[in-house]
Amino acid sequence: MTEKQTWSQRFESALHPAIARFNASISFDIELIEYDITGSQAHAKMLAHTGIISHTEGEALFNGLEQVRQEYRQGQFQPGVDAEDVHFAVEKRLTEIVGDVGKKLHTARSRNDQVGTDTRLYLRDQIQQIRQQLRDFQTVLVDIAEKNVETLIPGYTHLQRAQPVSLAHHLLAYFQMAQRDWERLEDVCKRVNISPLGCGALAGTTFPIDRHYTANLLHFDNVYANSLDGVSDRDFAIEFLCAASIIMVHLSRLSEEVILWASEEFRFVTLKDSCATGSSIMPQKKNPDVPELVRGKTGRVFGHLQAMLVIMKGLPLAYNKDLQEDKEGIFDSVNTVKACLEAMTILLQEGLEFRHQRLATAVTEDFANATDVADYLAARGVPFREAYNIVGKVVKTSIAAGKLLKDLQLEEWQQIHPAFAADIYEAITPRQVVAARNSYGGTGFVQVRQALLNARTQIIVK
Ligand code: ARG
Repeated sequence: MTEKQTWSQRFESALHPAIARFNASISFDIELIEYDITGSQAHAKMLAHTGIISHTEGEALFNGLEQVRQEYRQGQFQPGVDAEDVHFAVEKRLTEIVGDVGKKLHTARSRNDQVGTDTRLYLRDQIQQIRQQLRDFQTVLVDIAEKNVETLIPGYTHLQRAQPVSLAHHLLAYFQMAQRDWERLEDVCKRVNISPLGCGALAGTTFPIDRHYTANLLHFDNVYANSLDGVSDRDFAIEFLCAASIIMVHLSRLSEEVILWASEEFRFVTLKDSCATGSSIMPQKKNPDVPELVRGKTGRVFGHLQAMLVIMKGLPLAYNKDLQEDKEGIFDSVNTVKACLEAMTILLQEGLEFRHQRLATAVTEDFANATDVADYLAARGVPFREAYNIVGKVVKTSIAAGKLLKDLQLEEWQQIHPAFAADIYEAITPRQVVAARNSYGGTGFVQVRQALLNARTQIIVK
């Protein structure tokens, strides 16, 4: 049997050691310790401010908590499983340091509003860090895009060659995804940044607390309006995990492209040694482990979102111990997203080399300019559907003859339709095919240059 617990004299005997281990969250919620201390310091200040404890007592608690923080940072305070959770651990150490006044800290508070406060403070911090990482990722995308406005790459639909595009345009599509991620996290933060502190165990408290005072000290934007909701709401965690999952979707899609591009079948990029690994048996191999790992790690973040939804769906009001299960998924998702963003940013920055020669060839070896032939006729009065059918036939006969559209003689073009003139050859060069798509948001160079300018302006906003 372990030492008797902190709870109360209601208990005759101590917890079974295996149950104590099962019940404890200290092995993972230690991650929250700095936020727990900060939250407790605000609570102590509020207790003194409202006259619930004296100013001297408030100061003793505040300074004692600061000492706990320093001891933890210096490695002198390392709570074990007997502490149950980080909240008990901090309170216990505080009381050892400051004596009996430490026992006043938990006045007008419960671990239920406390843990909710800690988790929100933690997530708020992490969200800002992830948003900064998204900015770094976007910056690298723009840097590469700027150098590749006129680099052409086959564009695909159904993974079949469709129409060539500017490589910058392709990269800027990921910029846009990251921009939405950045904005989505800002929006999630509005719901994260609401204070449950002072909701008590579930029903509020008999003490004349000032919830707005603690909320201000902790830079929360608002306080929960309903105490039952305040202690049991985890919508903010679900929303964060959803935003994290969407970030992973985007990183995973980019990963998949890099993996394809690096293959012998595409040969669009070369992986640099600093970001690729070898095989233990096949000496010729160079593997895209970074994007593969990002793609693989996506699954665990989706899993945490699913777990959080399932944890919540059957919970009666208000706090239930099930909620202790929110933390590991949140922490792991935060760590995974941060690690993946860092790795992908480095991969883009220094791990990939686009094979310009190969890309230039790739955009000339197919029928990706067929739409432009149809557009050519349509621009000269032929109804588009008719033009589309004419070009479909041309493609068919060209494939049979082993030719590309650029190889047809002018007489052949004119036999197909009298509207064809010598300028058809220029109209179907890959460069012209791309340049001509000058509609807003299209891949035309004018559009892409404008999109780059807009992107640069957007990432200045922190
Ligand atoms: N370790 C707990 C958690 O993470 C803290 C709250 C405990 N509250 C309670 N009523 N047992 O959820």
